[in-house]
Amino acid sequence: MASKYQAPRGTFDVLPGNAHARARVERAAAEIFSRAGYEPIATPVFEDTDLFERGVGRSTDIVRKEMFTFEDKGGRSITLRPEGTAPICRAYLEHGMHKLAQPVKLSYAGPFFRHERPQAGRYRQFHQIGAEAIGTDSPFADAEAIMLLADLLAELGVPGVELRLGSLGSPVARRAYLEELKAHLRANEGELSKDVRERIDLNPLRAFDSDDEGTQAVMAGAPTIVERLDGEDAEHFAEVRALLDTAGIAYEIDPTLVRGLDYYTRTIFSFVCEGLGAQSEVGGGGRYDGLIEQLGGPATPAVGWAAGIERILLALEEDEETAGRDAFLAVADEGQRRRALALASELRHAGLAVEVDLAGRSLKGQLKHADRVGARRVVILESEGGVQLRDMESGEQRPTDAAHLLEELGGAGR
Ligand code: HAM
Repeated sequence: MASKYQAPRGTFDVLPGNAHARARVERAAAEIFSRAGYEPIATPVFEDTDLFERGVGRSTDIVRKEMFTFEDKGGRSITLRPEGTAPICRAYLEHGMHKLAQPVKLSYAGPFFRHERPQAGRYRQFHQIGAEAIGTDSPFADAEAIMLLADLLAELGVPGVELRLGSLGSPVARRAYLEELKAHLRANEGELSKDVRERIDLNPLRAFDSDDEGTQAVMAGAPTIVERLDGEDAEHFAEVRALLDTAGIAYEIDPTLVRGLDYYTRTIFSFVCEGLGAQSEVGGGGRYDGLIEQLGGPATPAVGWAAGIERILLALEEDEETAGRDAFLAVADEGQRRRALALASELRHAGLAVEVDLAGRSLKGQLKHADRVGARRVVILESEGGVQLRDMESGEQRPTDAAHLLEELGGAGR
């Protein structure tokens, strides 16, 4: 029964078969955030367009090409959020969170929207989990942020993860460096791709990210910001590295690391998983000391990251997962159907995951269905109060006492 309607391009339905693996990722993240004191925050899925233009940056691909922007009925320009950091900074300012003890540590999970060309690991509606620590410039906050994401990926068992680390320096140092870089690009203008050439002034750093061969050759000889870091920037970066070393977190310094958002200053990082192919980044982030000021607030340093839930699930290759059931209540005698439903409710109250037949199947049909839903045991209600307990793995079946059912089901195998 194919419908003439399909989910819009670049989107997907989360079906019950894949909802469990997804929930496991969100649960693991929530646990890690809560243990480290990152309180959950949720912001709307749409915001004023201006927030992202200012926050993410007009020269970025996200703002130039990828935003879902529309006019609402009041004539305002609205955008479906392409990322979570600018909205959280907006909320920080709007709710006067600078009056709270600093840093304010926040965590989030939810859908984000980018009009990108869909491919494996890249969607137009995707889901991120993320954390932000706002109100501190301490390298300890950078290291903690990185450690939280490293912990999450390790706890979930994401294979083949590598951490790439870089620093963009402070805005002043970066400006001087950018002039040097632009001069290098201009000197080699003829070999650059059109896209990079057009953006020499607007966003020269993106040249490091280009997949154009000519541009790559020019960039191999380009100066890097990491080589140019000095003073407090160099000290800050050295401390972040020392903290990661002490915590036993392996990383690789990537002097050409760039990220697709304009707000980063100093530390940037990226967790990649080679098995993922072209879209290999499972998560990343960095410090954004100028963003809150950019949005009209007081100078407020901050650091954070976001990870893509779909990328994590792809890396884990375990989208499909059944929840499993403690028991299925079957009836061998039609007269027992009502009792089965009441008993299922009773067992559920006691915390067991129990299903009951809702489709009037024969006993054979019920056993088959119990197997399909992943029930570990089947309780078979017979006429006159008789109860049989069947272990689905061994196939062993024996009579039991209704009074002891809860203990029997709650005991072994739980
Ligand atoms: P981002 O690198 O743009 O950073 O996105 C973070 C993660 O979201 C990526 O590493 C990737 O796993 C996932 N992601 C991005 N775009 C897509 C897509 N089209 N389809 C599937 N997954 C995607 C940010 O969004 C920053 N707000 C991170 C941050 C927080 N920096 C500081 N604080």
